[in-house]
Amino acid sequence: MADKIKLHDRTFKSYLSEDRIQERVQVLGLKISDDYQDKQPLFLSILNGSFLFAADLVRAFEGDCEVSFVKLASYDGLKSKGKIKKRIGLEVDLKDRHVILVEDIIDSGQTLHEFLPDLKKMKPASISIAVLLLKPNSVKYPFDIEYLGFEIPDKFVVGYGMDYDGLGRNLPSIYQLKTKKKKKKGKKK
Ligand code: IMP
Ligand code: MG
Repeated sequence: MADKIKLHDRTFKSYLSEDRIQERVQVLGLKISDDYQDKQPLFLSILNGSFLFAADLVRAFEGDCEVSFVKLASYDGLKSKGKIKKRIGLEVDLKDRHVILVEDIIDSGQTLHEFLPDLKKMKPASISIAVLLLKPNSVKYPFDIEYLGFEIPDKFVVGYGMDYDGLGRNLPSIYQLKTKKKKKKGKKK
């Protein structure tokens, strides 16, 4: 894993290695396998960001399951635009299904806050949430997360499915935005 990478105009530093991510995803996959032993869950991955996490998580799941996708987006560059766009809708009937929502990262929580009521209207038997990363300090809409990878500080990250303006999704590890050090005041040369 490179110490630093550059995407567009920004520099990012290494944050979570591929090994750490894979180890944690395996643990989550086994926990889900245990909890859903007698059920056939439907993993619902929220695109684009969760495609790699979902791919690894369902492969760590032991048992029969289904996998489906919806495409939601709120982010533009480094900031959330605050309005969720549904770009590809749901193609499966969720009635009486055990749904596991798979999301890459929860920042404000707005995406799930807006999407969950839509899901509940479809009357699934149960809904649980699997999220790789949570920024607890930026969450405005809290909810129960049954399967959480890591809590992280409120800093922009890329890699393992997550992007900065389209780039970085293919990186197997996660990088954090490098912020410029503030110059100390009152120091004159
Ligand atoms: P929320 O609606 O504010 O919780 O933001 C959720 C979505 O914004 C996530 O599913 C990501 O796709 C994207 N997002 C939030 N934080 C980051 C980040 O640090 N890097 C890349 N994408 C992010
Ligand atoms: Mg996402």
